[in-house]
Amino acid sequence: MTLAAPNSERLIAAARAAAANAYAPYSRFAVGAAVLLTDGAIITGANVENASYGLSLCAETVAVATASAAGRLADVVAIGVVGGMMDAAGIAHGTEPIRPCGRCRQVLNEAAQAGGRDLTVWCAGLDGDRMEEHRLSTLLPHVFGPADLGLTPTRG
Ligand code: THU
Repeated sequence: MTLAAPNSERLIAAARAAAANAYAPYSRFAVGAAVLLTDGAIITGANVENASYGLSLCAETVAVATASAAGRLADVVAIGVVGGMMDAAGIAHGTEPIRPCGRCRQVLNEAAQAGGRDLTVWCAGLDGDRMEEHRLSTLLPHVFGPADLGLTPTRG
């Protein structure tokens, strides 16, 4: 009998696979992200850099936007994030867990608010066994959200 892998392992594996498609010719830092939905489906993203550096998109933002485009923003329950520097051959490595940047935390908060739940955030490197588990509410306390605009979170 094969036991299903825990969601943390599924998400980190999916995020590592997604990182292979990072478009990061400027920083040469590849990031992969994978969001878990309520039904167990996984949607991935990788960073997409731009010659106008500030326009670059983070992997987490791409994954959340893809989930939203599929009508599933409110169904996001967790995210796995990995990253590492590319070597001369363009293969990325790294054992140090990376954590979502501040902007990505705010983007993730929109999914959390839409679904009315806190999110689990698993962070790892592209290689190795090190993994951290966080709550979005811990990574982004005192959040700015729909309530600040006089709105209650909405699923659509
Ligand atoms: N990056 C992400 O994709 N997610 C983060 O949370 C942090 C940074 C990307 C942006 C840029 O393409 C590269 O990593 C280096 O900053």
